[in-house]
Amino acid sequence: MQNIRLSKDHCSVIILDQTRLPNEETYCTLRTRRELFDAIYTLQVRGAPAIGIFAAFALYILASDIKTDNYAAFDQAFDEAVAYLKTARPTAVNLFWAAKRMRNIVKSNAGVSVIEIVDLLKKEALRIQQEDIAMCRAIAEHGLRLLKDGSRILTHCNAGPLATSRYGTALGPILLGKERGLHFKVYADETRPLLQGARITTYELSCAGIDVTLICDNMAAAVMQRGLVDAVFVGCDRVAANGDVANKIGTSGLAVLASHYKIPFYVLGPSSTIDISCPNGDHIDIEERDGAEICEQYFTQRMAPEGVRCYNPAFDVTDNALITGIVTEHGILTAPYTEQIQALFHRQEAH
Ligand code: MRU
Repeated sequence: MQNIRLSKDHCSVIILDQTRLPNEETYCTLRTRRELFDAIYTLQVRGAPAIGIFAAFALYILASDIKTDNYAAFDQAFDEAVAYLKTARPTAVNLFWAAKRMRNIVKSNAGVSVIEIVDLLKKEALRIQQEDIAMCRAIAEHGLRLLKDGSRILTHCNAGPLATSRYGTALGPILLGKERGLHFKVYADETRPLLQGARITTYELSCAGIDVTLICDNMAAAVMQRGLVDAVFVGCDRVAANGDVANKIGTSGLAVLASHYKIPFYVLGPSSTIDISCPNGDHIDIEERDGAEICEQYFTQRMAPEGVRCYNPAFDVTDNALITGIVTEHGILTAPYTEQIQALFHRQEAH
């Protein structure tokens, strides 16, 4: 199933609505500024790489709707569309990364007709998606080296195919290993409050025929203590230049537990999730969401008194000292992360 694609007439983006899983596989056709923004904000499309891919398609759609053939007017209207879309969610750097790539297309083609620029934007969005497929596949290959037949993996939130293009990041090695005849056992945290683990990770893994057991977030320590986990695999929304990692709220706690129980803790993500301009985790903007997600959503009736104050950060930052390795499409980074990340970026620049 393709989670993000252009409609046949190339005038809209079609996505699998992740808010309705696992009960309904509903596809939404999105076209207007508001619909495209809301899809990111409400998590119809979610997961850092998927947000980046979607943002690229969304910016192509918005560009094709700009009614001018004057470059300066087009450039200004496109910048406004970019600025608007970037406010949808603050933490996953892939949104900003994809927006920058799309903006570069416009800026570097000043002498070209608007109609051709719009076509170049479409090609760039498709390229971003194709590159993500290749990156996920490479991450899966590198991550698979960390597992063996029978490995038991604990994961948090959802970093599978639906959060990317194909394979996923944290789930990629598990899915690839399964294709090669290996058997794994996965513990999936439900991931409060929006239940990406319960709703999406268990759905993806069950569809792939992988042995998956759902646990509540507060059961991870008990499962680790009983010796049932060989490794923790999680995704990432932004990796700072020193290797601190922002990921779904609860990830940092898992890393502390894994360190206590001496279980390797791996972060898997494409190099586009590394924000070299961000020195450390303190500089990562953490999204804070509506308290209704804690009190009301997914309950048949309210579960907390009306008006109770809620604190609902969507992400947390895991200290690089707790991370055994960061698996990217280029291989596995280990401490010291600052040096390894710098070397990776220098190699990429030299290419
Ligand atoms: O709020 P979400 O569901 O977008 O959060 C997603 C995560 O935290 C994922 O672990 C991360 O984006 C990596 S997805 C490959």
